[in-house]
Amino acid sequence: MIDIMPMTVEDIDGVLEVEESCFAIAWTREDFVREMTQNKLAVYFVAKDGERIVGYAGMWHVVTEGQITNVAVMDEYRNRKVGSALMEALIKTAEEREMIGITLEVKISNYPAQKLYSKYGFKPEGFRKNYYKDTNEDAIVMWKYFESFMSE
Ligand SMILES: CC(C)(COP(=O)(O)OP(=O)(O)OC[C@H]1O[C@@H](n2cnc3c(N)ncnc32)[C@H](O)[C@@H]1OP(=O)(O)O)[C@@H](O)C(=O)NCCC(=O)NCCS
Repeated sequence: MIDIMPMTVEDIDGVLEVEESCFAIAWTREDFVREMTQNKLAVYFVAKDGERIVGYAGMWHVVTEGQITNVAVMDEYRNRKVGSALMEALIKTAEEREMIGITLEVKISNYPAQKLYSKYGFKPEGFRKNYYKDTNEDAIVMWKYFESFMSE
């Protein structure tokens, strides 16, 4: 049973394990401490299997939009809807805060992540050339707009 809960400073050790197992250029402890203690825009959730952190996701609430910073799930927990549960927590928060939409960047080659985002209604809206420092790869910019905003 996986629980989704808001991330706290106490979660940072576990989050770092997830982060370092998922990304070649990983965020540091200082990055996460700053997110938890100083960044008033930050909205982060962790996925826990018992006491173990097996995934996390976050976004910044910038004016009327959510900007997803990261979604990551430990390899052995993938394809078990953990990423989906984390996305649902972000989307629910965005709806509760009456954001107009959520945006993110994803590597052109990152098909699993694109599938996850498409499942929740994110659509490609543009590209950022050479966006990723590790591979110089382009990013696809995706957006999900909330219907309440679209129908106004
Ligand atoms: C992207 C990531 C977060 C997905 O997490 P996950 O827990 O495996 O996702 P889920 O099990 O909730 O799957 C979500 C959807 O994506 C699809 N999917 C997941 N892994 C996939 C894969 N390897 N290939 C194709 N589709 C895949 C599934 O079809 C699923 O939809 P479903 O409900 O119809 O089954 C995970 O692969 C990951 O951490 N990757 C490394 C970090 C990363 O790239 N993060 C994104 C940065 S933009």
